[in-house]
Amino acid sequence: MARIISIVNQKGGVGKTTTAVNLAAYLAHHGKFVLLIDLDPQGNASSGLGINMRELEYGIYDTLASNLTMKDIIQSSNVDGLSVAPSTPDLAGARVELVDQEMREFKLHNVVLEVRNDYDYIIIDCPPSLCLLTVNGMVASEEALIPVQTEYYALEGLSQLLSTVDLVKKSLKPELEILGAVMTMYDERNKLSKEVFNELYQFFPNKIFRTVIPRNTRLAEAPSFGKSILHYDKRSPGAKAYKRLAQELISLEN
Ligand SMILES: Nc1ncnc2c1ncn2[C@@H]1O[C@H](COP(=O)(O)OP(=O)(O)O)[C@@H](O)[C@H]1O
Ligand SMILES: [Mg+2]
Repeated sequence: MARIISIVNQKGGVGKTTTAVNLAAYLAHHGKFVLLIDLDPQGNASSGLGINMRELEYGIYDTLASNLTMKDIIQSSNVDGLSVAPSTPDLAGARVELVDQEMREFKLHNVVLEVRNDYDYIIIDCPPSLCLLTVNGMVASEEALIPVQTEYYALEGLSQLLSTVDLVKKSLKPELEILGAVMTMYDERNKLSKEVFNELYQFFPNKIFRTVIPRNTRLAEAPSFGKSILHYDKRSPGAKAYKRLAQELISLEN
């Protein structure tokens, strides 16, 4: 049965999608069967793996709002062992459309169950807000991974995020745990980075990944070629970091 991990942070631009795509790619590279679910209407995780949203007939929206199954919409990606449940622009409407539906927080959970045995890892890239889509992502998962950008305001909003995770755990998904925080865009020459790192340690004792993702332009360039860093530049510091992060995650398997 797959480990199901949601990548969450209501702040935009902190490295959720970059982490979802490249972590998923390296988990697959380490021989795991991986499904990446793109739950952001922007579709950056889908396009970052070479999937053109505009050519798709169906996406994750159709599993939530009508009755298509995961198997109807899953696409293979350009990374061996990595499949994608892509986003399409109509996913933006799901936030509003789902609001009056019964069990609206469990829509994704229910469709994910049906493919859980087909993968070792299911990674869910959530949008940058604490909206119903993100709640669906959390409820469908058992572990939440929180990318934190190494910047001055990094910790702002984290209490709200943690209380949302707590609320979801108490009221909807008792199995949900915080897997940990991963520092992204880390610049070791910057004194601030070390300070943020130390502060984050107080926030998440024992729950920070040892692997830190450096700021690396190759990571920012790769999506415009529709490639993960594994295929774009596997020797770059960014690639090495995501490779280590995947290894660290695998080492936490029980
Ligand atoms: N480690 C990194 N080094 C350099 N650029 C990065 C890094 N991580 C992400 N980026 C870039 O920062 C921007 C925001 O990252 P993204 O993963 O899309 O964040 P989010 O999904 O949280 O909104 C993107 O342009 C991305 O390419
Ligand atoms: Mg994103």
